[in-house]
Amino acid sequence: MTTLLTTHDVAHIARHLGMARLNAELVAYLESDFLRWPEFDKTARVASHSADGVIELMPIADAELYSFKYVNGHPKNTRVGLPTVMAFGLLASVATGTPEFLSELTLSTAMRTAATSAMVARRLARPGSRSMALIGNGAQSEFQALAFHHLLGIDELRLYDIDAQATDKLVSHLSQVPGLRLQVCRSCAEAVQGADIVTTVTADKTNATILTPEMIEPGMHINGVGGDCPGKTELHRDVLGMSKVFVEYEPQSRIEGDVQQMPADFAVTEFWRVLAGLSGGRDDVRQVTVFDSVGFALEDFSVLRFLRDQAQALNLGQSISLVPSLANPKDLFGQLNLSAGIRQAA
Ligand SMILES: NC(=O)c1ccc[n+]([C@@H]2O[C@H](COP(=O)([O-])OP(=O)(O)OC[C@H]3O[C@@H](n4cnc5c(N)ncnc54)[C@H](O)[C@@H]3O)[C@@H](O)[C@H]2O)c1
Repeated sequence: MTTLLTTHDVAHIARHLGMARLNAELVAYLESDFLRWPEFDKTARVASHSADGVIELMPIADAELYSFKYVNGHPKNTRVGLPTVMAFGLLASVATGTPEFLSELTLSTAMRTAATSAMVARRLARPGSRSMALIGNGAQSEFQALAFHHLLGIDELRLYDIDAQATDKLVSHLSQVPGLRLQVCRSCAEAVQGADIVTTVTADKTNATILTPEMIEPGMHINGVGGDCPGKTELHRDVLGMSKVFVEYEPQSRIEGDVQQMPADFAVTEFWRVLAGLSGGRDDVRQVTVFDSVGFALEDFSVLRFLRDQAQALNLGQSISLVPSLANPKDLFGQLNLSAGIRQAA
């Protein structure tokens, strides 16, 4: 049998652990998997593009487990009452191919994306960073805010969205968080001014220039989350040119990340190398660092492992018959129980 974990189960896990513990535990899963980077069979995700969006499949495997995620990205969806990003995914046994654990991944994508951003920023942002501009206050934004608050000690958030109602929603969710000061800003430039970290998490299927060079101050760390598709970027190319740029999986990021705007030989560093001590991170306190996040399958592998372990510990999830349980594995037809009907038809 396959275990199915629904959105209600994932919400239960979040309430049970609290977001601070959830973020800390999720980062531990992410780091342990990123440190095993060479052990994974990796590929850039398979994307099916249409006029208003993209649907993607994201597979990855190590010697024991295979995972994939189905995920879309449709920035205009919110106008028709649907989320921009929706996802689900699966863990399977490599030894037998058995699908073991099927889960919602819409909430969990927001969790793993934010935890990944914070994992990276812990290594790349200037020590002592306390303020963050958060540009784009939609579905992902609370998760980003809390991960940076819990894991980096960010205590001042400067918020901007072209949709004031999105910012109001974010403020209503975060205004009760102890030790977190919120400042609503009238422009992106106002939000970015003086921030230690800048997170861009906007949704628009265009080559946007959310951040332009004159907004960037020495020593900033930029966590660019919303530029994640061909023709969908957030950073002016000169912002990349003035920064040291870190990516998840280079072959995928060259296609989908903000670095798609740069020549093929533009230098990028895969983050796992920094984590493993094989490459340097930030060179000095005045350097501008960019995490050009697109979302990589390994992050979904990690969150699926985390959810599977939480489901076991909390006795969550339901067993579903996704593949037939056969007394005789060569007798698939018998599972249909059609013999009486076949006799009648004959
Ligand atoms: N890198 C990753 O791993 C990853 C994972 C999940 C989502 N994403 C991307 O993150 C982005 C945000 O996702 P979401 O689920 O929060 O989407 P969402 O539609 O819920 O929110 C996006 C927000 O961006 C705002 N926005 C659009 N253009 C803007 C601009 N020029 N300036 C300021 N705000 C602007 C919108 O008004 C909206 O409130 C999407 O582009 C999505 O594809 C990336």
